[in-house]
Amino acid sequence: MHTQHQYDVLIVGSGAAGLTLALRLPARARIAVLSKGPLQEGNTWYAQGGISAVLDREDSIESHVNDTMEAGAGLCKPEVVRYTVEHGPDAVQWLIDLGVPFTRKDARGGNSFHLTREGGHQHRRVIHAADATGMALETSLVDAVRARDNIDLFEQHIAIDLITAERLQRQDNRCLGAYVLDRDNHRVEVFRARAVVLATGGASKVYRYTSNPDTATGDGIAMAWRAGCRVANMEFNQFHPTCLYHPQAKSFLITEAVRGEGGKLLLPDGKPFMQRFDARAELAPRDIVARAIDHEMKRLGYDHVLLDISHKPAAFIREHFPTVHQRCLEFGIDITREPIPVVPAAHYTCGGVQVDLKGHSDVDGLYVVGESACTGLHGANRMASNSLLECLVFASAAAADIDAGLDSIPMPPELPEWDESKVTDSDEEVVVSHNWDELRHFMWDYVGIVRTDKRLARARRRVELLQHEITEYYSNFTVTNDLLELRNLVQVAELIIRSAQQRKESRGLHYTLDYPLPDTSRPPQDTVLTPPRSRFETAAAATG
Ligand code: FAD
Ligand code: SIN
Repeated sequence: MHTQHQYDVLIVGSGAAGLTLALRLPARARIAVLSKGPLQEGNTWYAQGGISAVLDREDSIESHVNDTMEAGAGLCKPEVVRYTVEHGPDAVQWLIDLGVPFTRKDARGGNSFHLTREGGHQHRRVIHAADATGMALETSLVDAVRARDNIDLFEQHIAIDLITAERLQRQDNRCLGAYVLDRDNHRVEVFRARAVVLATGGASKVYRYTSNPDTATGDGIAMAWRAGCRVANMEFNQFHPTCLYHPQAKSFLITEAVRGEGGKLLLPDGKPFMQRFDARAELAPRDIVARAIDHEMKRLGYDHVLLDISHKPAAFIREHFPTVHQRCLEFGIDITREPIPVVPAAHYTCGGVQVDLKGHSDVDGLYVVGESACTGLHGANRMASNSLLECLVFASAAAADIDAGLDSIPMPPELPEWDESKVTDSDEEVVVSHNWDELRHFMWDYVGIVRTDKRLARARRRVELLQHEITEYYSNFTVTNDLLELRNLVQVAELIIRSAQQRKESRGLHYTLDYPLPDTSRPPQDTVLTPPRSRFETAAAATG
């Protein structure tokens, strides 16, 4: 038997949400932070555009609230939007105090910060560190957690499943810890804690083409679902309109700020087209832009469109977009002189584990923050740069709530060890790699930017088959990182497809040819899925 790790707070995930939460907790709390790869690897690191907040005198809370609600297509929760937007300036100030090197208006280091504009925003309100905001942010957060004595960091540790009281056949509904695979020594360890936080990011790796790194496999959403939490709005997958189109470029985003600073979308023959789809043209919310590009590519048989910023002075481009400029140069494209070939790709998971304003999920002691959560901020479509803001604001709210309750929650007792007595090492790894590819292909083809009932039904049949195969495989073989991620991806895919099938209308990011308009016969509804055996299903059965 191994020694069980014991902490006040276990945080699964080391992106903007997880690390902010760790830093916002008091120094008296003993904290473990897990990351399944290197500490900095996750969506946060790759964020380009910036963080939205009301930081300019000309701007207002009301305007940021309205823009967010407008993008969210009737499904944003007004109290959540207001709460987030009102806490934005403080959240950004906290980062400035932490030393995040945001770009200043005056290159010589004057006092005010440069704010850029992105789709859906009526004002310049996106604070950024050139076009590598995530790298600057994550570096500062990692430096700060490394300097704290009360925080232990576990890299290469992938959480497998949550341990709940219900799983141990106790009457209460509390999260007690997690089973975690140490990827270096292949041992499954037990972590127990008074409070557990999932900050595991999104699930865009479920799609064949994505702007996300390999970590985005929806682990937290799948773990929470298996533990009995409801998930909401999983059909709203955001496709970023402009990822670099090049055979050797794996998931490289061309930030929306390029369009914010005047970049134009063109067909490969040089003709502009966005004005035909929306009066806001390039600065329409990204669902509209991504759909317009998809429409034109399919209509005209092109495999990409173009994004052109070369009419701006070369020095301006190099100063504002050094990362994009450099990366494109590596592929032989000089963006100061020529347009960039781009295509849409899966980018952001708007749905997730349903939580309240403090990050509480349906299981006591289990919090979910960041891209894994569905707070109600984004509704049917997230506005650009509202995601990092949500990570910061909700991580702080959850930290305050955990802090307030910590002393009254007992440390869980010794928990059962992981049982490997009935499994052997896999003899057919190909099952994992094959199913992984198959899943991501049919999700792209059948559950992508434009959906139909028929395509969703096809995807549903395939995902159920894969689920069956993977469950069987999982019960027979020793767990590996790839198997765990695939198991989670398949679970999340099923949740996406089921949610999409329930929505008989087009709204925000969910567009279906069978119901091309929003349903105006009733108020807009969230799609909420309840796991079997959860207390909500049990309560419904008892009253029904
Ligand atoms: P992440 O940063 O993805 O971190 C997830 C963490 O969880 C990682 O540490 C990972 O190792 C860990 N993890 C996952 N599963 C497990 C497991 N089973 N066990 C242990 N650890 C696990 N948003 C904006 O607001 N502005 C932008 O400019 C912007 N640009 C973007 C550009 C790109 C290319 C991408 C991909 C996203 C962008 N976004 C942007 C979205 C934003 O970056 C993310 O939504 C946000 O960073 C999510 O933060 P997070 O902390 O929730 O998750
Ligand atoms: C971008 O820089 O275009 C990404 C912004 C975001 O996803 O919020």
